[in-house]
Amino acid sequence: MRVLLVCLAGLLVCLKTADSHSLPQKDYDTDSSKPDITNPLNDTSGNNSSSVPDNSSGIFDSNTTIFIVRYVTRGDKKEYKGIYAHKNGKVKKILVGGRAFSDWFSKSRAYLGHKDGIYVYDTETEKLEKYGNLSDSIIGILKENRTDDLYILTEDHVVYKVIEEGTKKIKINEAEHAEQIALDWDDNLYYIGANNQPYVVTSDGAKKIEGLPANPTSASFSRAPITTEHRSWFMSGKQPYIIYPNATSEPYVFNDQEKLEYEKRIRALQLIFLQLRNQAEE
Ligand SMILES: *[C@@H]1O[C@H](CO)[C@@H](O)[C@H](O)[C@H]1NC(C)=O
Ligand SMILES: *[C@@H]1O[C@H](CO)[C@@H](O)[C@H](O)[C@H]1NC(C)=O
Ligand SMILES: *[C@@H]1O[C@H](CO)[C@@H](O)[C@H](O)[C@H]1NC(C)=O
Ligand SMILES: *[C@@H]1O[C@H](CO)[C@@H](O)[C@H](O)[C@H]1NC(C)=O
Ligand SMILES: *[C@@H]1O[C@H](CO)[C@@H](O)[C@H](O)[C@H]1NC(C)=O
Ligand SMILES: *[C@@H]1O[C@H](CO)[C@@H](O)[C@H](O)[C@H]1NC(C)=O
Ligand SMILES: *[C@@H]1O[C@H](CO)[C@@H](O)[C@H](O)[C@H]1NC(C)=O
Ligand SMILES: *[C@@H]1O[C@H](CO)[C@@H](O)[C@H](O)[C@H]1NC(C)=O
Repeated sequence: MRVLLVCLAGLLVCLKTADSHSLPQKDYDTDSSKPDITNPLNDTSGNNSSSVPDNSSGIFDSNTTIFIVRYVTRGDKKEYKGIYAHKNGKVKKILVGGRAFSDWFSKSRAYLGHKDGIYVYDTETEKLEKYGNLSDSIIGILKENRTDDLYILTEDHVVYKVIEEGTKKIKINEAEHAEQIALDWDDNLYYIGANNQPYVVTSDGAKKIEGLPANPTSASFSRAPITTEHRSWFMSGKQPYIIYPNATSEPYVFNDQEKLEYEKRIRALQLIFLQLRNQAEE
């Protein structure tokens, strides 16, 4: 049972969102000694975070685009191999040097974080374009729910809000040494600090989320297997939590329905990984 919980949490399933174009995602590790993809089910750390499409009835339906960030871990270092898109049964490499993508998007536009700035990818036309004129090396990217503004997390762990169509960035001073970032529906910004603890950025500064284990072995914002709405989802080690903008938290327990959905997704996702692996080896 414990193992199943871990898997559920590691696979970050979003069952429902209003936007059926919402992007699913999957990051994974490969080991440098073998050109293989590690089992996505074992992904429980932020390093190996992953997620799958968020439409429970149309899992992997032909029009859904799934983005995959491929990287190889060498010691503590990640070597990024680019972003792939899976759609209509095909996997395609879309951005060499890509490292992150926004998972909520509107009008079929997904924002991709690159080592030299931001790109925008249209999942319908499959066209890729440079977005704005920033040149930061990006490891995390989010789009606001209410606006077209973005948040980026750069390789040196600084968070910026990106406005005016990617031409201007504002440093979020409250977020110190962020490892990962997340937004809820209300566009509250959360980040994980160097201490593996999550914080919420409020008008009076960053607040540490209370009620979580002090020294987790890992910490990550994964895509939640439930609708999160006005709250966010956080993995402390292997235990999932719901975290709230008022800086409180509570452990999350999965129900049977969620477990079933999860298993369905795993089967579908495994096929995609196989496919990507075969293609990447070519
Ligand atoms: C999920 O996908 C199905 C089939 O593709 C579609 O009919 C349904 O409206 C979608 N639901 C949501 C919430 O997007
Ligand atoms: C996780 O990995 C371990 C060892 O690599 C393996 O034995 C186990 O079956 C995996 N768990 C799942 C759920 O695949
Ligand atoms: C993350 O991936 C690396 C490389 O495959 C692996 O060694 C590590 O155990 C993984 N972490 C977790 C928590 O699964
Ligand atoms: C995750 O990555 C960090 C640094 O990149 C490393 O210190 C940590 O050990 C990694 N954790 C796992 C579980 O691989
Ligand atoms: C996929 O999306 C395109 C463009 O929105 C639409 O024309 C087409 O009918 C969709 N196909 C399916 C199977 O839903
Ligand atoms: C990006 O473009 C804006 C508006 O044209 C300009 O003000 C800004 O200086 C440019 N920034 C960079 C980094 O080139
Ligand atoms: C935020 O996004 C969700 C799902 O995409 C949507 O249902 C909700 O109405 C959005 N909230 C606002 C304020 O736009
Ligand atoms: C924080 O917000 C949650 C969710 O809205 C609520 O259930 C809880 O009572 C709040 N806690 C405090 C201390 O305000």
